[in-house]
Amino acid sequence: MKRYKIPNEVLYGIKELDDQHQELVDTVRSLDAHVGSDDIATIEKIFDHLEKLMIKHFSDEESIMKETEFPDVAAHSVHHKKLLEEARQIFSIAVSRGTLSEHDINESIDKILRHLLLADAPFNTHLRQTQHV
Ligand SMILES: [Fe+2]
Ligand SMILES: [Fe+2]
Repeated sequence: MKRYKIPNEVLYGIKELDDQHQELVDTVRSLDAHVGSDDIATIEKIFDHLEKLMIKHFSDEESIMKETEFPDVAAHSVHHKKLLEEARQIFSIAVSRGTLSEHDINESIDKILRHLLLADAPFNTHLRQTQHV
């Protein structure tokens, strides 16, 4: 599968966070190679890695939001917690079914991409307006 590159207009201009976004997308898309697989141990490894990346990224992003006085950090943090919970749910559904379906993968990719492209956008605007980047 062709690598999905985070579009330039979505980049924060903060390398650490931009690299984390790219790694999140790459990781969630690496699930694609496991459609229909019942190799739950391998799938679990990817979800474990994804979970770690999400926790680290959300924490780093929220820290920078606080540092730069982004006004919607509390609501954004709720969004992050929900996203993490949804990723865990998708994984547990795959485990109980015994295989990873295309629907699980599309749903995971969709949720993560949508967050990066839409929910993170107001923070990107904030960084620019307050000339933090
Ligand atoms: Fe983000
Ligand atoms: Fe975010």
